[in-house]
Amino acid sequence: MEWSVIQKKVGPLLWLLVISTVLVLFIMHSSPAFSVSIKAVLTQSPLVTASDVTNQSASLPANTGGVTPVHDGSSSPQLSADGIEEQCDTSKGKWVREPGASIYTNLTCPTYPDINNCGKYGKDQSYLYWRWQPDGCDIPRFEPETFLNIVRGKRMAFVGDSLARNQIDSLLCLLSQVTSYAFIAGANSTPEISRSYDLQHDALILVQAETPREVSRDSSGKYVTWYFPPHDFTLMVMWTEYFVEARPRIINGTASNSFEIHLDRVSTSWAEKLPGVDYAVLSGGNWFFRAIHLYEEGKIVGCVNCREQNLTEFGVAVTIRRALRTALRFISSCEDCEGLVTFLRTFTSSHFENGSWLTGGYCNRTQPSNETRTPPDDVAWEIRKIQLEEIERVRRPESGGKTRFGVLDVTKAMMLRADAHPGDHWTKKSKASVNDCLHWCLPGPIDMWSDLLLATLEKKFLPS
Ligand SMILES: *[C@@H]1O[C@H](CO)[C@@H](O)[C@H](O)[C@H]1NC(C)=O
Ligand SMILES: *[C@@H]1O[C@H](CO)[C@@H](O)[C@H](O)[C@H]1NC(C)=O
Ligand SMILES: *[C@@H]1O[C@H](CO)[C@@H](O)[C@H](O)[C@H]1NC(C)=O
Ligand SMILES: *[C@@H]1O[C@H](CO)[C@@H](O)[C@H](O)[C@H]1NC(C)=O
Ligand SMILES: *[C@@H]1O[C@H](CO)[C@@H](O)[C@H](O)[C@H]1NC(C)=O
Ligand SMILES: *[C@@H]1O[C@H](CO)[C@@H](O)[C@H](O)[C@H]1NC(C)=O
Repeated sequence: MEWSVIQKKVGPLLWLLVISTVLVLFIMHSSPAFSVSIKAVLTQSPLVTASDVTNQSASLPANTGGVTPVHDGSSSPQLSADGIEEQCDTSKGKWVREPGASIYTNLTCPTYPDINNCGKYGKDQSYLYWRWQPDGCDIPRFEPETFLNIVRGKRMAFVGDSLARNQIDSLLCLLSQVTSYAFIAGANSTPEISRSYDLQHDALILVQAETPREVSRDSSGKYVTWYFPPHDFTLMVMWTEYFVEARPRIINGTASNSFEIHLDRVSTSWAEKLPGVDYAVLSGGNWFFRAIHLYEEGKIVGCVNCREQNLTEFGVAVTIRRALRTALRFISSCEDCEGLVTFLRTFTSSHFENGSWLTGGYCNRTQPSNETRTPPDDVAWEIRKIQLEEIERVRRPESGGKTRFGVLDVTKAMMLRADAHPGDHWTKKSKASVNDCLHWCLPGPIDMWSDLLLATLEKKFLPS
């Protein structure tokens, strides 16, 4: 009997559920219908499908709640000075077919955002059945209970643009799913279940992980905080387009699509909320493709995408480098950020064909690309390189930084997923709204970013 395991994993409210289920299981144990029933329970769970249990067990990480997994995650880590090493090069690999769907759906996620509900708006669901397979390692599938145990008592902030929001929406859905198992002796399990979990135990009880509770939201919905009471975990999203101070340019009295940004001044709107945060995930880049006037020391120094003859054109990549450096310097020297670990989620490009976010275009591909080569002049690849260089710079001991930095390297994987954006399958506000070839359908490949975050936090990638 694993009662201590059960006690640890189950909040007081769920005790009733567990105890009543135990009773039911023990009663059913005496009936020949039992093994059929437990299988039915498993197949109805969004996490463990029948095909998972019978065919996919070898490729799934063990969901063994307290039982030691069979693997030890030995891969060749690239050690950096501060210990947040990238253990697995996730920038090389391919999308492989994955018969098991995501652990959540638009029906099982309590915080599900309609804007990413591609299935409801008619998108074919074949984009769900793929898994990112890096060349040298496996990324374990997300395990909500494991994640919540790691972040118990902590505060995590996603800082950035709408893709930061897209990522946190994915994480909220993942965390709300059925995931914990308690093992009860005395009942027969089916051979499939024993094999798949490598257990001597006899029966499984599924326990629901927790539903996030929204505790604060500003009027624009750009700063939202959720709380997970049993794990005392706080999750926040903080909006910033550029990380540095920015405001829309006023042209003829109205705010325009273009911006003025101060490359040397961090934006206080997120920066002053950073103290007290334990984990920050930075997400940005796509706003730098607009027309932007650039300032340093309060003076205009140049611009991006503007046609003014007398201003120096900086280019997107250089501008991202300068703004990111300012943000990372601020974080690394932040006085009240004891213990902060910052992850940079590398850039992902949009997939507009014949257009852009501002002009339109479409993205109606139906399969991931299998292209392994990345053109050397690819903009996304160039931005990723700059992001990695700036992280390396701030990680160097001589930078005198006080906090630690890691990378979630998703650029290449997402470059290949033109098939997984809403496209025209979303709630457009008006007929004139463009297709969305920038954000990602939920569930979808963006869920992998959380797989990667958890594996990085746990320092546990699997040998492939
Ligand atoms: C959920 O998604 C499915 C496609 O997977 C779609 O058919 C259905 O309409 C959606 N339901 C809701 C309530 O959004
Ligand atoms: C501002 O308004 C004036 C007069 O309506 C117009 O001539 C000018 O082109 C406008 N400038 C811009 C940048 O839209
Ligand atoms: C650049 O030229 C525009 C007019 O074409 C002028 O309004 C602006 O002040 C000039 N900027 C600088 C930095 O000289
Ligand atoms: C997309 O643009 C390319 C060149 O810009 C053009 O050759 C092609 O016909 C366009 N395709 C569509 C479907 O408009
Ligand atoms: C994608 O959309 C474009 C423009 O509407 C169209 O020309 C093309 O045939 C579509 N491709 C597929 C695979 O549906
Ligand atoms: C890549 O996909 C194309 C079809 O989109 C296919 O013709 C080609 O054989 C694939 N290449 C590899 C290496 O799988």
